[in-house]
Amino acid sequence: MAYSEKVMDHFSNPRNVGEIENADGIGEVGNSRCGDIMKMYIKVDDNIITDCKFKTFGCGAAIATSSMATELIKGKTIDEALKLTNKAVMEALDGLPPVKVHCSVLAEQAIKAALADYYKKLGIDPEPIVGKIQEECEGGACCNG
Ligand code: FES
Repeated sequence: MAYSEKVMDHFSNPRNVGEIENADGIGEVGNSRCGDIMKMYIKVDDNIITDCKFKTFGCGAAIATSSMATELIKGKTIDEALKLTNKAVMEALDGLPPVKVHCSVLAEQAIKAALADYYKKLGIDPEPIVGKIQEECEGGACCNG
């Protein structure tokens, strides 16, 4: 299966690449299957994600999914961002080849990790809100690819 035009667009012209100085939350996750790493920075104001940037040391699908994921959560509430699934990111990109599904899991987990960091900085235990973060994807049930 070839990559969709949207995947190619977000891969060649990724949105929101970089770092946020004084970010309110930073999340870093890695994929142990391929060694790829994703770092996500968020700025939160009054429960709204006002800015979001990422750096991905990874494959094209990881870059495209993180780019799309940042676009999807910018301007949204924390609750909405927490509900963003890798499936929704893939749908927004018009799909990914099955072997690349695990790359999109990285984007979802990186957002959750950044939000967990945000709560930790506020002195709030993030686990009841954000759930468990899979910092290392082992290619288990979460990954179909
Ligand atoms: Fe590693 Fe895609 S192959 S994230």
